[in-house]
Amino acid sequence: SPAPRVFSGIQPTGIPHLGNYLGALRSWVSLQEEFGSVLYSVVDLHSITVPQDPDTLRRSVLDMTACLLACGVNPDKSCLFQQSQVPEHAELGWILSCLTSMPRLRHLPQWKMKSQSQKNEGSVGLFIYPVLQVADILLYQSTHVPVGDDQAQHLELTQDVARTFNNQYGEFFPIPRALMSKCAKKIRSLRDPLVKMSKSDPQKLATVRLTDTPDEIVMKFRKAVTDCTSEVTYDPERRPGISNLVAIHSAVSGLAPEELVRQSRGLETAQYKLVVAEAVIAHLTPIREEVHRLRGDTGFLTGVLTRGTHAAREVATPVYDAVCRMVGL
Ligand code: ADP
Ligand code: NA
Repeated sequence: SPAPRVFSGIQPTGIPHLGNYLGALRSWVSLQEEFGSVLYSVVDLHSITVPQDPDTLRRSVLDMTACLLACGVNPDKSCLFQQSQVPEHAELGWILSCLTSMPRLRHLPQWKMKSQSQKNEGSVGLFIYPVLQVADILLYQSTHVPVGDDQAQHLELTQDVARTFNNQYGEFFPIPRALMSKCAKKIRSLRDPLVKMSKSDPQKLATVRLTDTPDEIVMKFRKAVTDCTSEVTYDPERRPGISNLVAIHSAVSGLAPEELVRQSRGLETAQYKLVVAEAVIAHLTPIREEVHRLRGDTGFLTGVLTRGTHAAREVATPVYDAVCRMVGL
C-alpha cells in the first residue's frame, strides 16, 4: 500500500473564524504529528471562481498563512504552500476534467447553491472547481484528506475520478480516504444556531474571528441567541443555541459537554455566556497575538511559502510527469 500522505487546502478568505479553527485547522496541527508526510495549501486558484479583488487576494494569502502558522501549523513538519505557485495543480486539473462528466458536477450541492447566488449564474471555473480540488489531492498521490461533512461529496468525486483514471490508464492513484474532524459537530452561528458559523454570514455578531479582541468576543457571546430557558443544558436538538455555546466551550477547554453542564449548575445562561467568552478568549489570545506578530513580517511569510512551494513541487512534478506519460502527452 502507498505511503500515507495527508493533503488539505483552505481558501485565502481573510481571517478564519472559530468554526474553521475548531472544525478544520486545529486538526491540521495534530495530523502533523500523526503522519510523516503532510501538505497544506492556501488554495488561491479557488478564490477567483467568484468576483474578487486582486489586492485583497494578495493580502488574504499572507493573512491566511499567518493564521495557519499562529494556529500551530509548523513548516518544518508539514509543507505549507500557495496553490497557484505550483502550476501542476491547474495542469492536472485540465487532464482530470476530461475524465469527469458534466452531470456528475451539476449534481454537487455547492454548484447548485453558489451558482444561484451569482448574477452570471456562475462561471465555468465555479462549475469545475471540484475537479481542481480533485487535482489538488491527487497531485500528491494523497491517501488521507481531512474533510468536514460539507466536503464529503467532493471527496467521493475524488475517489471516482481516481478510479476512472486508474481504469483507463493503469493503476496509479491511491484512493484517498476521509479523515473526519474530531469536531465534526458543526459550530453554529451565534445569531442563528440553526445555521453553521460561516464567513458569508451577513449578521455582524454571528461569527468569532481568530483576531477578535477580548471585548469583541465578550460582546458577541453576550448577544448570542439562546432560548427563554435560563438553565444551562446540553440538548442540541431541542436547545441548539445554548448547546452550541456548550459545544464551543467543550472544544476550547477539552472537557466533555456533560462535565461543563455539571460545573455550570446554578448559573443563568446570561452568566454562562460570559464563562464561555472567557474560555474562548483564553484559548485565542496567544493565537491572536501570534497572528499580529506574523502579519507584520511579510518577508518571513513569503519565505515560508517559497520553501513550501519548492517542497511541494518536488512531489508534484514527478507525479504530473508520470500522468502525462500515461495519458500520452
Ligand atoms: P465557510 O463555511 O466559512 O465558508 P469554508 O467552507 O471555507 O468556511 O470551510 C473551511 C473549512 O472549515 C472546512 O474544512 C470546513 O469544513 C470548516 N468549517 C467551516 N465552517 C465550519 C463550522 N461552522 N464548524 C466546523 N467546521 C467548519
Ligand atoms: Na463551505
